[in-house]
Order: sequence, then structure tokens, then C-alpha cells
Amino acid sequence: MIIEPVIKGVVAKTAHPYGCEQAVLQQIQYVKQAKQISQGPKRVLIIGGSSGFGLAARTALTFGGAKADTISVSFERGPSNKGVGSAGFYNNIAFKKNAEKEGRLAINIQGDAFSKSVKDEVVEAIETYFEGEVDLIIYSVASGVRPNPETGEMWRSAIKPIDQDVSGATIMLEDDSWHTSKLKAASNEEAEQTIKVMGGEDWEAWVDRLINSESIAHGCRTIAFSYMGPALTHPIYLDGTLGRAKIDLHQTSHSLNLKLANFEGGAYATVCKALVTKASVFIPGLSPYIIALYKVMKEKGTHEGCIEQMQRLFSDKLYAGNKVPVDCERLIRMDEWELDADTQSKVNTLVDQLNAENFTSLADYHGFKQEFLNLNGFGFSNVNYSEAVDIESFINRTN
Ligand code: NAI
Repeated sequence: MIIEPVIKGVVAKTAHPYGCEQAVLQQIQYVKQAKQISQGPKRVLIIGGSSGFGLAARTALTFGGAKADTISVSFERGPSNKGVGSAGFYNNIAFKKNAEKEGRLAINIQGDAFSKSVKDEVVEAIETYFEGEVDLIIYSVASGVRPNPETGEMWRSAIKPIDQDVSGATIMLEDDSWHTSKLKAASNEEAEQTIKVMGGEDWEAWVDRLINSESIAHGCRTIAFSYMGPALTHPIYLDGTLGRAKIDLHQTSHSLNLKLANFEGGAYATVCKALVTKASVFIPGLSPYIIALYKVMKEKGTHEGCIEQMQRLFSDKLYAGNKVPVDCERLIRMDEWELDADTQSKVNTLVDQLNAENFTSLADYHGFKQEFLNLNGFGFSNVNYSEAVDIESFINRTN
């Protein structure tokens, strides 16, 4: 079968297995030559480790100096009569193969991280593969829904402003078009449900589960990712439903920090940079900011992708051997270059100029689109996209 990119709106409907492998290999190559993580953890659980920040964290810790073994949980689709499967499914295969080549364990558990059964499965895997304990738990789930464990009904996140309607533009990757729309303010119910899905409750449930099963190693740490962004994005992000959920996550980090203090460990919310991922292109109103930010940061030489952010997080901040550097709210800041005053002043000027006619030429839309294609295994010069792919043989091959 020949696999071509199919995009509907901002969602990729296809993924190329060999291209996904290239994306994984490029990340591995990057961390091997980057500043190494010298005092990193050896047994790591990543919840949401098949793409974006979670996959980058897994790659950094396995190949970027720490030589960690990993268990990753993700919610991905394999090939079926409905389609070729999701990029994360192929990333998992490519990651495992390359980790095993270097003698590292890489266990992939596919299922719903919110469920009790997947938590039980992970505890069992920790027993089997990690001699019963983890050194680091990374929570990197981005989801639109979460089942209520009591009723089975779905909580749904709504990406909306709070208290005011907000106008913003979304860029449709499907046909490179710019759409301005008004986002209605969220109802209280929508804001509450977004906190249930994207706040800290499930992160805490994971850590509690691992404490109860005595799976926490001495010195164990846990991190989850957050975003704050500049004033320009506050109406849609920090002051909106997602921001409320992130504030909840920050508060959860404090209660988890107290719990892990019993093991001489710690918990940190880590504020990252705005980046193109499967999850972020979904946020209405954010893409004009991201294409302007990419343009300015690339020109200044300060641009980072997920992999650069994660390697720097572990080598310079979380495992640098000193006290973990945090701000006055006890957050680890990886967004310091994004929020640099000169960067933001240039981004503001550029965003003000952007419109439907000029966004592809004035800002870095090309880089944005290229990164999106790469996330799904497309746009790599060393993959022959006109060649038919035998998906079964990709999945079953051993070298
Ligand atoms: P992503 O979409 O690339 O990755 C999400 C991961 O969650 C995937 O591994 C997916 O399989 C997994 N997942 C989703 N639902 C699941 C479920 N029910 N059970 C198990 N796994 C599930 O997203 P991204 O952007 O890497 O997001 C990760 C975290 O980073 C989120 O908390 C996000 O808010 C945060 N973040 C993202 C930024 C960005 O610009 N992309 C910036 C700062 C923070």
C-alpha cells in the first residue's frame, strides 16, 4: 500500500511507518550528540510516551546519557480496516527496536491511562521488569476526554476562554487556510470538565497507585508538563479552560511533592515552550502565535523542539546534580527563552501584521507545516514515499 498524507482540518488521518521511524531516529541522533544527562534515573515510567513531549522525554532518558529502561503507556491505533493506524503506534515500535539494539528495556503498554486496568498492568510491569520500583514518573497525557471512574460517563475538555468571548485565527493544515472565528466563553460545567480531563487528578491517582503498591524507589521524582505563555495567548490559554486545568496541575504538584518527600523524592510541574504537536495544533487561536514564535526564535538561534527541551530539562535542571531550579511558584521553567522580552516584542509586532493573505510568507508557516508532517512520518527526504509499504512486515521485522 502507498501511504500518503491525509489531513482533515488539523488532524492527520494517516501516518507513514518508515517516516515515523525516521522521526524517532532523528531524535535519537540529536540526544546522542547533545550535552549528556549524567546523573539520570534508570527506571522510568512515561504516561503518554508515544509522541510529543512524552516520546522526547523517553528518548532523552534512554539515549541521551542516562541509559534508562522505560515503560510507556499510550493510547494509539494500530492498522485496521478503518485506517493505517496512528503515528504514535509506529513511534512505539521504532523506539522499542532501537532501544533494544542498545540493550535497553522498552516496554509499550497501549490502553487508556485513566483506567484502573492499565494502572494495574503498569504495576505488574514494574514488578516484572524494574524489580518493583520506579525512579521517575513522567505524566504527559494530552486528551480530549476522560471516563468518570464512578459512572463511566465521559468528561470532555473544552478549549475555550472564560468570562469573555475571544476572537482568534486557526490555521487549517488541510488546505493552508486561515480562519478567524469567535470562541464563546466556556460554561462553568465546561471549565470543570476540562479540569477533570487535563488537570492533576489522574496524575495524582497514578502516584497514589504506585505508592500503594510500594513501587516508588528512594529519591523517586515525578513531573508533568504545563504551558503558561505570554500575555498575547492568555485569553485563550492561561485565562481559559486549559489554563484552569494547568493551575490545578500546578497545585497537584505541591501535594505530590509532600507525598514523595517521604521517599526523599519530589514532584514538579514543568512549564514548556509552545510547540507543534498533535495536541497543540488543536488549540484554536494558538497557531498564529506559534508560527510567529518559530520565525523569531529561529532567527535568534533560540528555537527548540520537544527533543531539545527534554534533553535540556534532564541534563541542566532535573538531574544536574544540584537542587532543582524552580521559580517562586515552584515551577521548573523551560519557557524562559520563549518569554525573553526581546523575543516577545518581535513576536507581538509580527502577530499584529499576520492575516489570511500573508501568514505563509511573513511567519514560519513552512516550518510549522513541515513539523506537523514529520510528526506523522511525512516530509523526510530519505523515505521513498512512492514505494508501497507492507505494514505487517514493518511491525514484525526484527532489524
Ligand atoms: P501529544 O498529543 O503529542 O502526546 C499526548 C500523549 O498522550 C500521547 O502519547 C498519547 O498516546 C497519550 N494519550 C492520550 N490519551 C491517552 C489515554 N487515554 N491513555 C493513555 N495515553 C493517552 O501531546 P503533547 O503536546 O506532547 O502534550 C503532552 C503534555 O505537554 C500535555 O499536558 C500538554 O498540555 C503539555 N504541553 C504541551 C505544549 C505544546 O506546545 N505542545 C506546551 C507545554 C505543555
